[in-house]
Amino acid sequence: MSENKTLFQAFKETSFKTNGHGNRNAGVLKEAFEHVPSELESDMYGSGKVIEDFQTKMADMLGKEASVFFPSGTMAQQIALRIWCDEKGTKKVAYHPLSHLEIHEEDGLKELHGIEAVLLADKDRIITLEDVQEMEDEAAAILLELPQREIGGQLPDFGTLQSISDHCRDKGIFLHLDGARLLEVLPYYQKTAAEICALFDSVYISVYKGIGGIAGAVLAGDEAFIKKSKVWKRRHGGDLISLYPYIISADHYLDQRAGKMEKYYRNAREFAQFYNNCTRVVTRPEVPVSNMFHVHYDAAADSLEEILIEVYEKTGVGLSGYLRETSDSSCYYEVSIGDLYDTIPKEDLEEAFQLLNDRLKQM
Ligand SMILES: Cc1ncc(COP(=O)(O)O)c(C=O)c1O
Repeated sequence: MSENKTLFQAFKETSFKTNGHGNRNAGVLKEAFEHVPSELESDMYGSGKVIEDFQTKMADMLGKEASVFFPSGTMAQQIALRIWCDEKGTKKVAYHPLSHLEIHEEDGLKELHGIEAVLLADKDRIITLEDVQEMEDEAAAILLELPQREIGGQLPDFGTLQSISDHCRDKGIFLHLDGARLLEVLPYYQKTAAEICALFDSVYISVYKGIGGIAGAVLAGDEAFIKKSKVWKRRHGGDLISLYPYIISADHYLDQRAGKMEKYYRNAREFAQFYNNCTRVVTRPEVPVSNMFHVHYDAAADSLEEILIEVYEKTGVGLSGYLRETSDSSCYYEVSIGDLYDTIPKEDLEEAFQLLNDRLKQM
């Protein structure tokens, strides 16, 4: 084993990576533009055929009256929640303690909009109907994230979603969907995107996660909501003069991958079994409900790092480029299955897990 190689370096050098669709490089954009005529006109500050056609296509897919393309989900969701707060005259919204807004956005909602968060549920489980029913604060809106990424991508069953939606409608609370990975959960629910979105007043979907575009997000809802969100997009500087590189790539990879979510889901369940058959390893959830899951190791990160580097170098299979410590003797990483998984020869994958398991047993 080469001295001082970092896990990230060793991972980068592997021939077969188990996560995602492939390298995020210029080739991703080139492929999306391969058949696009040079004469195709750019969008301009939110108008033009290229952006309007895509917004109509996404609104139809999500079963909503209208949609708007945003440079980021962070911008789209803060705006959605601001609109619902203005509508209700309440500066409070409720969401999970590990929601993207709470842990990855530097208090954007509070600092930019003066909106306070009511945290629902314990951080290591998903929001239940009871959490929503027992909420004491007057929140204008509740945000549900499907799947709940920071706990491995867990999901409530469809009946729970329906009851939460009914409760919110009954109480006049707006329900917003953080559907960053919405398409990725459809095979579990055996529902269309429109059937899931019908339970929500507003919906955000990412175009660069399972879909694999460059960047960007779509926010959907009724006409009045979308009209307001366009004003806020302008205020936030989200109306880039041209967004077409993001839109064309989003459209291209949506067409290519929307039909593959069932396969990613099936592969995630198969892959999780490889992990769960190893000693000192559990996946969360144990049986994935989308294309993603977390891999938890009962092992110190520095010892595990050595083992993983050996596995990568001997088998050419790369499992993760990082480890996140949860204690001195435990760590985890995230897995998101995409196109790459099926390119790995099964015997190489089996060999990698055989070696991983052997080394973990020797610890
Ligand atoms: C669940 C969830 N919501 C929102 C976002 C924000 O998306 P963006 O990176 O487009 O701002 C992310 C991004 O990782 C996410 O995972």
